[in-house]
Amino acid sequence: MQGTRHYAVVTGAASGIGREVALQLADVGWRLAVSDINTAGLEATAREVEARGAELVDATVVDVSDPDAVDAWAYRLAEAYGAAHTVHHVGGISIWGRVDTMPLEKWRSLIEINLMGTVHMVRAFVPAMMQAGPVPKAQRRKVGPRRLVCVSSSAGIIGLPWHAAYSASKGGVLAMCEVLRFDLAPYGIKVHAVAPGAVDTGLVHTIDIDGVDQANPRVRKARELFQGHAIPPARCAEIILKGVRKNKYLITTGGDIALARWAQVNAPSLYRGAMGGINRAFRWVAKDAML
Ligand SMILES: NC(=O)c1ccc[n+]([C@@H]2O[C@H](COP(=O)([O-])OP(=O)(O)OC[C@H]3O[C@@H](n4cnc5c(N)ncnc54)[C@H](O)[C@@H]3O)[C@@H](O)[C@H]2O)c1
Repeated sequence: MQGTRHYAVVTGAASGIGREVALQLADVGWRLAVSDINTAGLEATAREVEARGAELVDATVVDVSDPDAVDAWAYRLAEAYGAAHTVHHVGGISIWGRVDTMPLEKWRSLIEINLMGTVHMVRAFVPAMMQAGPVPKAQRRKVGPRRLVCVSSSAGIIGLPWHAAYSASKGGVLAMCEVLRFDLAPYGIKVHAVAPGAVDTGLVHTIDIDGVDQANPRVRKARELFQGHAIPPARCAEIILKGVRKNKYLITTGGDIALARWAQVNAPSLYRGAMGGINRAFRWVAKDAML
């Protein structure tokens, strides 16, 4: 943030939610270190951050599934600027598919990027944040405590159709955050787990639904319905940053996810009925589109 040495890290900054988080942080004067695997998109975000008058301390192409690359990036930042104040780990991928047909390499890439990517980010950035200790009280009023913000998904909580591999990767992120929120509290680090519902980003447009013909009219229609229900990435970033400011641990982006989570625990038959209906509708959509 301007006037302090603090900086925020944002992964997945080339596109969608990560790009919007970076730009909204830039708008309120955060110094930023951004990364993504997509060079052109990252450069565009970096230019926009600077155009908004924020200080860009770093923009590096990093594949979060590569532990050495993540370590090297974190080390370079810590050497130059000290421990990060906030890490927003947003970058990730989505692949859906049936468990009986989805190839093992797609399971692996979800786990390597979404789950191990988060592990790599935590291992690379959090130790320096722990060592640096809590933000001094006088500065805390301006910038808040140190924070780790990890983007999981509503699919990490509820049983969406054909999401087994994606949900395994995102559920792991949620479970890790649940532990870290207590483990890191004595070091003055707040942990936030983000579980967005549908957000209209590149990920939704390019999603790989393994074994399904995406050109099928029924599938196209269902995708349009999904996009109609999805919130814009800028709105999602606003919800995330507001939740973070309010020190909310689990940040969801819509009442439907909060309700589904409540029903899962408190009204299991209602939850089972609703999710069964969604799963049946999905199977009906895909019926004539199986490859
Ligand atoms: N869009 C949704 O409906 C939705 C819903 C729930 C959760 N999410 C999660 O939100 C996060 C952001 O997704 P988005 O919707 O903005 O999609 P997006 O595709 O617009 O952005 C994801 C970004 O992550 C980057 N990325 C992918 N693999 C990477 C890797 N190996 N290393 C570094 N960067 C990598 C991409 O290049 C891209 O810029 C993801 O973790 C996604 O799982 C999205």
